[in-house]
Amino acid sequence: MEEKVEKYRLLLKQAQSLVKDETNLIANLSNLSSLIHFTFEFWWTGFYFVDGKQLVLGPFQGPLACTRIPYGKGVCGTAWADKRTLVVPDVEQFPGHIACSSESRSEIVVPIFKDGEVWAELDIDSKELNTFDEIDKEWLERIVEILKS
Ligand code: SME
Repeated sequence: MEEKVEKYRLLLKQAQSLVKDETNLIANLSNLSSLIHFTFEFWWTGFYFVDGKQLVLGPFQGPLACTRIPYGKGVCGTAWADKRTLVVPDVEQFPGHIACSSESRSEIVVPIFKDGEVWAELDIDSKELNTFDEIDKEWLERIVEILKS
């Protein structure tokens, strides 16, 4: 458990220094997805952007993913509608889960806000069950916060 917190502590610092001198969003999200993905060796790590009533795929690391997800659908669309982070210990138990990859077993989706509205999301998939917990939620929320400034 402590090891995970240490990794996140370092990751947050790296993320801050990565984005501090760069204003281009795509560049920053690309590097951020790589940083998170390879720190923890997740299965899929990436961003979705709000585009009207859908989410559209942004920078990511991992296998091919669904390009568009409707509002309220799947884990991503539900996190957007609920305006909160969703931790899914077993994707097969989540009604309406969208299986971009049959390898995915657990998932976390962290909405990113501006002026109280969701404009993007960080989505991470794991090949193992029960990968994500309150620690991941807390630190990933902190990491996406840096995209506001
Ligand atoms: N599983 C997600 C879809 C996105 S992929 O995991 C990359 C969902 O149910 O919304």
